[in-house]
Amino acid sequence: MSQNESLVMQQIVYLNGEYLPMADSKISTQDRGFLFGDGIYEVIPVYQRKLFAWPEHLQRLKNSLQAVSIPNPLNDEEWLEMLTGLVKKHPWENQFIYLQVTRGIQMQRDHMPADCLHPTIYAYTNPLKPLNAKILTHGIKVVSLEDIRWLRCDTKAITLLPNVMMKLAAKQQGADDAILISRGGKVTEGSASNVVIVKEGKLLTPPNSQHILPGVTRLVIEKVANQHHIPFIERELDLTDLQTADEIWLTSSTKEAVPVTQLDGKEVGDGRPGPVWQKLHQHYQDYKAEFIAQYTRASL
Ligand code: PDD
Repeated sequence: MSQNESLVMQQIVYLNGEYLPMADSKISTQDRGFLFGDGIYEVIPVYQRKLFAWPEHLQRLKNSLQAVSIPNPLNDEEWLEMLTGLVKKHPWENQFIYLQVTRGIQMQRDHMPADCLHPTIYAYTNPLKPLNAKILTHGIKVVSLEDIRWLRCDTKAITLLPNVMMKLAAKQQGADDAILISRGGKVTEGSASNVVIVKEGKLLTPPNSQHILPGVTRLVIEKVANQHHIPFIERELDLTDLQTADEIWLTSSTKEAVPVTQLDGKEVGDGRPGPVWQKLHQHYQDYKAEFIAQYTRASL
């Protein structure tokens, strides 16, 4: 085991009501998450030890549970208390929490869930590092790929095999990531992110639907854009829109907005992170700083 891996193993995780070292956290092989991928998850960024956009993440968690008929095992206060407790057990100012809820353990494997299962709740946290300087300066390369996923991508399900396959396919083609195109020719999202493009100073992004995850970062970007009078428009996009975009960004909780500078081997715009991204990136940092300041004022 590497030094890094052994450090990770000393991390504290939350599992079904207990905080314990990761090395001691064990779940049953009969957990439906393990056997069927029967569960949902959330990823929540934490800045200066405060959960960012928590109401939005909580709402999406509840929506995902409801969509797959897993009873919500905790109330709103208990969710917050549990995750805040986890954050406090770690030294990092900025973190990201992975939270997963599966339908629970069922001794006889059966596609049909038994009644009265107890959901398995698991959460752990990691240091959240700022985007590396290379990405900020040069952006990333993506390829467009057929979206091979199911028709309920609005649910944050743990069954991510197609996402993993598309990420691998992107890597095999020498790219960092993929932008997914539906069978109907519409842009859906990235393999683990939403897509925003810039055209003539306006931000364009596909509307929320069952084909994409309603990203919290996308929502924050909408708010920030509104504050700064940058038009934010939801509309269907196709491959030609991507090919003729001035800028393309991928947005997610762990990476905020990442500029895409190459699509299918061709430069996006002038092949460098664009001016609207530069502005939005700064506004996003200001928004985070204001969020932290508000929390600090409220606790004085
Ligand atoms: N993924 N679409 C997909 C398919 C995603 O997996 C994600 C995030 C997003 C962006 O959502 P948000 O802005 O709320 O993070 C969109 C997380 C980070 C993950 O799976 O690790």
